[in-house]
Amino acid sequence: MSAALFGALDEARRNLRPDPTLAEVGIVAEVGEGVAHVSGFSELLIDELLSFPGGLYGTASTIRQGMAGIVLLGDADHLQTGDEVRRTKRTLDAPVGPALLGRVVDGLGRPLDERGPIKAATYWPIERHAPAIMDRAPVSRPLQTGIKSIDAAIPVGRGQRELILGDRQTGKTAIAVSAMINQSAEDVICIYCAIGQRTSAVARVIQNLKANDVMQRSIVVTASGEDAPGLQFSAPYAATSMAEYFVERGKDVLIIYDDLTRHARAYRELSLLLRRPPAREAYPGDIFYIHSRLLERSAQLSEAKGGGSLTALPVIETQAQNISAYIPTNLISITDGQIYLSPILFQKGILPAVDIGLSVSRVGGDAQQRAYRMVAPDLRLYYAQYEELEAFSRFGARLDKDTRQRLERGRRIREILKQGEHDRMTMAEQIGVLLAATSGLLDAVAMEKLPEAETVIRRDLPDLSSQLSAKEGLDDKGKSEILQAMRTALENAGLISGEETSS
Ligand SMILES: Nc1ncnc2c1ncn2[C@@H]1O[C@H](COP(=O)(O)OP(=O)(O)OP(=O)(O)O)[C@@H](O)[C@H]1O
Ligand SMILES: [Mg+2]
Repeated sequence: MSAALFGALDEARRNLRPDPTLAEVGIVAEVGEGVAHVSGFSELLIDELLSFPGGLYGTASTIRQGMAGIVLLGDADHLQTGDEVRRTKRTLDAPVGPALLGRVVDGLGRPLDERGPIKAATYWPIERHAPAIMDRAPVSRPLQTGIKSIDAAIPVGRGQRELILGDRQTGKTAIAVSAMINQSAEDVICIYCAIGQRTSAVARVIQNLKANDVMQRSIVVTASGEDAPGLQFSAPYAATSMAEYFVERGKDVLIIYDDLTRHARAYRELSLLLRRPPAREAYPGDIFYIHSRLLERSAQLSEAKGGGSLTALPVIETQAQNISAYIPTNLISITDGQIYLSPILFQKGILPAVDIGLSVSRVGGDAQQRAYRMVAPDLRLYYAQYEELEAFSRFGARLDKDTRQRLERGRRIREILKQGEHDRMTMAEQIGVLLAATSGLLDAVAMEKLPEAETVIRRDLPDLSSQLSAKEGLDDKGKSEILQAMRTALENAGLISGEETSS
């Protein structure tokens, strides 16, 4: 039996006429952690995909004096000097299409969940051109995160790139995931790209998406800290191609890159191993370019191009609140604004720890729903004044009545901006609560009763959604009607008494 099998195999082997010309096979000259050097190719293109033994792939990154520096896209423990390497004559691509929805894949789009192979609609290169200027339209539609401090004070529009930055453990991932979950009522596809993270942290995100019924409209692309740096480097580009498939079909997509600090580190590691000259903080000179060409792919497409959009929330981790370090400043200059999370606010229990003073949204204001204009300017003003006055009042300085009142209102506004990690608010709820705070309705409510007041307002608020989403927002009459309704609700709940309120 086995003799017959081997006979057949032997014959098949003899009949096989592999015909790689000499130039198409190279030899591994050196293997390192994450990279290899290969010699023997007479011709090779930059970024060309190469096939190594054992199903391992790599991309040609540097070519110098007959030696090619290859970024390996996987575990290379089995690789040895002298192994053969073959050209593929194509660049790295990733599967795209609706079959990816609901799936967890690696940096090359290979399934990591136990749900079988993915029937890709097609394969797209992971590096693609950003939409041309003429194919873009201004950011004009909001992307609600469900977090009141962000939607009111730092609004994000569809097609915008808004950086989330802060020290470690300040709630960066929580905000990004919350924004994804808040899309469950909207027709927005979500992609979460985890780069260099602990596997347990990614598992928690997936759990959260599943528990909130958004997983079936999401894709999770993950290259963890244990994966080859080449995979960590390519993951966000692959994830963006997966997003673009939907965007080019007129869909709105939200993509999270969590986080680009680790992406930059993976690239630094690769560059040093490939012996590229290091520049500032040992990063290679093109570190700015690798992030700008990634984030330039986010855009609001014009009507002629189907009107789809790609909104990006890249995450960056700062060290000791240093937002002027190299990578953070690069990203701040590439993106359309930033949400800064302060470890000091986090320690004080002011969550989400968004520092409104240091956060900005440069294009989202145009996309924000009109109704927010009733509350947003006052919100920022009282908040800023409060931050300033708080320092004074700590010295026990004597303050006049007006200043004291501003301080009290600012304190309440900061308190009312707190929001639980798993709590998402509709626009109507946010505006109701914030209007109550900025107009002074809550001045008479004791600080510790504010959460209760918020619950009452959210419960008893008349249905405003149709009025609020109208183009022009609320007029003065509408505004005083809501205020009156909220006042009555608070009085009925015994949180304020009839005479105390002022405006
Ligand atoms: N609004 C919130 N209310 C209560 N707890 C929160 C809130 N936001 C975040 N947390 C908690 O704070 C902790 C840190 O959050 P998260 O993991 O999102 O931070 P991170 O900045 O992404 O951390 P890392 O630097 O490890 O990536 C978590 O335990 C999370 O549950
Ligand atoms: Mg995180």
